[in-house]
Amino acid sequence: MTDKKPFAWETAIAWKNKDRIVVRGYDVNELTGNISFAEHFHLVLRGELPTPEVGRMTEAILVNMAEHAMSPSSATVRFATSGGAELNAAVAAGVAGIGRLHGTADRPAEMFLAVGERAERDGLSDREAAAKVVAEMRERRERMPGFHHAQHIRDPRTARLLELSDELGVTGRYVGIARAMEDATEDVFGRRIWINGPGSMGCVGLDMGYEPLQLKAMFIVCRSLSLCAHSIEEATREKGWRASTNSDMVQPLDLSMQGPDHYDGPADRSLT
Ligand SMILES: CC(C)(COP(=O)(O)OP(=O)(O)OC[C@H]1O[C@@H](n2cnc3c(N)ncnc32)[C@H](O)[C@@H]1OP(=O)(O)O)[C@@H](O)C(=O)NCCC(=O)NCCS
Repeated sequence: MTDKKPFAWETAIAWKNKDRIVVRGYDVNELTGNISFAEHFHLVLRGELPTPEVGRMTEAILVNMAEHAMSPSSATVRFATSGGAELNAAVAAGVAGIGRLHGTADRPAEMFLAVGERAERDGLSDREAAAKVVAEMRERRERMPGFHHAQHIRDPRTARLLELSDELGVTGRYVGIARAMEDATEDVFGRRIWINGPGSMGCVGLDMGYEPLQLKAMFIVCRSLSLCAHSIEEATREKGWRASTNSDMVQPLDLSMQGPDHYDGPADRSLT
């Protein structure tokens, strides 16, 4: 039994009245101009402002994972937009395309947690438990979430995220478990199966104290930026209905369609 009123929402996230908006106890106008979006992401989802290191690492992940050219979600957005869907509807279709095999930061996080629990339960070191889990999953022909990338094989985002996590002192038990699993693939597969971007989000995110679902939210939030850009570009540069007799259907996820021959934005440049 609960003493809550039926049909009444209660929330620990925010409140507002005619004059004020208060988020997790802070007036939104005090937050505005004083914290980064990454710090706000942490505050809204987790209830507290992050440490400077967690704030920077969160920011880095939001930038690193925001845009990825043609992927299942951006291609979905483009097809939805080509049918005339409004921006919000097209972006919602793209978000729906994020799943078990794409943008899956929560599933690798669940797996790394399970490896940690296995080590404790069976009295193994984390490295031993990692090696056992890799071997068992291979035996069952089960794909390890957060490993391998269909388009890159070795995902170029991973090294940068793990390097930053080391530099900022964020790296802890779960980055160790992910690295141990990657090492174990050499024996089990006879070749290295690399941690991918969402896999690095999974382990670095756990070491920052995020829950798996909060990591999935992090992916949705940053990738929505890309989904908006792809929808707006599709709506403003293409005439719609992509596969008509006047425009060929292409396989947008084929890497040959994603290279510089199909890119007409600015040439390579640097922040320095
Ligand atoms: C994304 C994915 C579907 C890509 O698959 P793909 O490039 O078509 O690769 P294949 O499924 O053909 O796998 C080729 C081989 O690589 C290995 N492999 C690929 N991904 C693997 C993974 N996640 N775990 C273990 N082995 C993997 C296997 O040896 C496989 O050979 P097998 O079929 O004989 O077992 C797959 O890697 C996967 O399911 N990854 C986990 C989900 C994930 O992290 N997604 C986020 C991507 S950003």
